[in-house]
Amino acid sequence: MNIYPEDANIFETSNTDDTSRPKVYIETYGCQMNVNDSEVVASILIGNGYSVTSDINQADIILINTCSIRENAETRVFGRLDLFGQIKKQKPSVLVGVLGCMAERLKDQLLEQKKVVDLVVGPDAYRELPVLIRAAEDGQKGVNVLLSREETYADISPVRLDKNGVSAFVSIMRGCNNMCSYCVVPYTRGAERSRDPHTIVKEVQELVNAGYREVTLLGQNVNSYHWVEQKGLIKHSVNFSDLLEMVALVDPRLRVRFSTSHPKDLTNEVLYTMAMYENICNHIHLPVQSGSTRILKLMNRKYTREDYLNRIEAIRSIIPDCSISTDIIAGFCTETEVDHDLTLSLMREVGFDFAYMFKYSERPNTKAARHLEDDVPEEVKTRRLMEIIELQGKLSEQSKQADVGKRFEVLVEGESKKSKDEFYGRTSQNKVVVFPKAGHKVGDFVYVEITDCTPATLMGKIVEE
Ligand code: 5AD
Ligand code: SF4
Repeated sequence: MNIYPEDANIFETSNTDDTSRPKVYIETYGCQMNVNDSEVVASILIGNGYSVTSDINQADIILINTCSIRENAETRVFGRLDLFGQIKKQKPSVLVGVLGCMAERLKDQLLEQKKVVDLVVGPDAYRELPVLIRAAEDGQKGVNVLLSREETYADISPVRLDKNGVSAFVSIMRGCNNMCSYCVVPYTRGAERSRDPHTIVKEVQELVNAGYREVTLLGQNVNSYHWVEQKGLIKHSVNFSDLLEMVALVDPRLRVRFSTSHPKDLTNEVLYTMAMYENICNHIHLPVQSGSTRILKLMNRKYTREDYLNRIEAIRSIIPDCSISTDIIAGFCTETEVDHDLTLSLMREVGFDFAYMFKYSERPNTKAARHLEDDVPEEVKTRRLMEIIELQGKLSEQSKQADVGKRFEVLVEGESKKSKDEFYGRTSQNKVVVFPKAGHKVGDFVYVEITDCTPATLMGKIVEE
């Protein structure tokens, strides 16, 4: 599943069947990390006597898990809060809570300007939710936006809310230490901390036992995962490559994915681990942001265009059939046409299989907001973004065309939205394939020969291995 901020779907929680308990409705915006956080929140609340509903009209408590990464992500949430206000007018006992990044960033504004808001809870304070809800029930505001250096919710088994029963997110770390100059995440999610690998392996094993066939290890920068433990007199450290191997070894039939990688930290060791284990999927999401070394420096990305291309070369030589996706920002501070052309030429050079593309959106208090002028006019940002999107459209199509005639192992993830007679699933390279059913079920691995493609999807038919 590919989810990114403001264009994201709303992930509504599904029902846990219990009519006697107070009902919580959770709506989630933002990244995969946020989706997983909502699952942690659901787990905490169910453990404290609440039930979860997907019907907002049934809710006693409405929670909105929010994203701050770009301005329009926040604008959308303000719109939703107005709607919640209307619901509350009809049913004044309903509590409304803002969770996540906006809670962290805009606590005071939310409390002062949005009367509808009863709870404001930051990403590291979810264990406090039951206490804060009780305070709100007593007419106080339930507020906790303290960030932690330790919290990883390691012991909490998230309640899987998307319920496809096939693929699940597993959070392996929280926060971020990178300080990219445009990014609000270090401020909203705090410092980077890694989760105990044994709790990760345990959670993955539980997912396997429950029938799951794919896990995606999540972190803002998974390649800097680092855990140190004392074994007798010896200190033993686990890096991301080690963790990947531990997870791959849980079950050879479990697909393992991970996101997001930072180009400065993606080591050959990780690439060799990926190459060694069949069940680690051949896909890397490697955000480049810009093709201009000058802009990358202003973004504080800590790599050059050449460094990035060197990583691409390493991926291609160690894992020849690996797909590569990226994130690109158009119109960062001081970006010239020359810088923009460098982004376009890098895109062509790499031939990305997929990309998330954004206009630069200045976020208050970030390094860029404090030290650089947001000086690329809006219409220039829009035009550059359009050019980037158009080029990526061609590259994505080329990437799919190149698969026509090839065979791939595909994990059946569900029924196609367009036809009851078809399934959809993904290749190891994370490309979606639609194919006629042939007596299999969701969760099965099948071999599919690609017969055709549209700009968005591969089409195929099931074949013998
Ligand atoms: N403006 C636009 N895009 C941003 N991203 C992060 N911060 C901003 C911002 N201020 C993009 C980056 C990142 C992705 C998650 O969101 O491309 O990789
Ligand atoms: Fe949005 Fe970043 Fe927060 Fe995820 S971590 S919800 S992308 S601001």
